[in-house]
Amino acid sequence: MTASDVWYTDFHNHLIPGVDDGSQDAEHSAGALAAFRRAGVRQVVVTPHFDGSLTQQPERRAQRLAELDTGWQVLRGVVEADAAVFGSPLQVERGAEVMLDIPDPDFSDARIRLAGTSFVLVEFPMMQLPPANAALAIGLIRRGGWIPIVAHPERYRNLDSLAPLGEFIAAGALLQVNAGSLLGDYGPKAQERAREILGRGLASFVCSDYHARGEPHTAGFARMLGEAGFSEQASLLLGVNPARMLNGDMPVAVPPMATATAAGAPWWKRILG
Ligand SMILES: [Fe+2]
Repeated sequence: MTASDVWYTDFHNHLIPGVDDGSQDAEHSAGALAAFRRAGVRQVVVTPHFDGSLTQQPERRAQRLAELDTGWQVLRGVVEADAAVFGSPLQVERGAEVMLDIPDPDFSDARIRLAGTSFVLVEFPMMQLPPANAALAIGLIRRGGWIPIVAHPERYRNLDSLAPLGEFIAAGALLQVNAGSLLGDYGPKAQERAREILGRGLASFVCSDYHARGEPHTAGFARMLGEAGFSEQASLLLGVNPARMLNGDMPVAVPPMATATAAGAPWWKRILG
């Protein structure tokens, strides 16, 4: 599998210029779109940070959405210029990475959902899972009619076992792992958790969480899995399932990788040597 013969869909990244810790200006965003092209990404949903509590504060909510609207218009111009340069348009849609600083944000505004679908990308504050009732928040969102996708669960500093993730899934959440986690970008603990989550087939999606610096790790992740004999999983995680989400469809199951290597070394040892 190479970047040139497959297309990926990335729905977790920070490419709207000047609105968060990702891209800082239009030029930066243009470089990031070109980097996505090199990585084989052809469909993008941009997800600037948005605090869920803002949905309960009308004035601050309007202010933040106005900032995002302005940045989005700048990005639209960048996308058009990119299409002119490369001769084919990328599909770029809008979303948000919503912080659950309250358990039940109001997701009725399509601008904070993923491309206007029922899917919402959520994270817990401070890279820590709440000491209790985190799954309660997932259930509340689900009962509100939305489908929560938990961003980078492997990165939570207090995730010492996969048990909380089982509770999230039971409460109706889907999991999105960052491509860079498996490559060690966020340290050994996140890398270990990513191996476990992917090994057991618990994640439905892998995205870049690209902040417009360096290269997104999409292609590197696909290459790593492909070389280890898990091209099917790479295709599902990076391509098929994110594209289904964009169409409003639930993901298909991703076969566990751990069991596929039961007779030999653990799959990550084959991948990481
Ligand atoms: Fe993010």
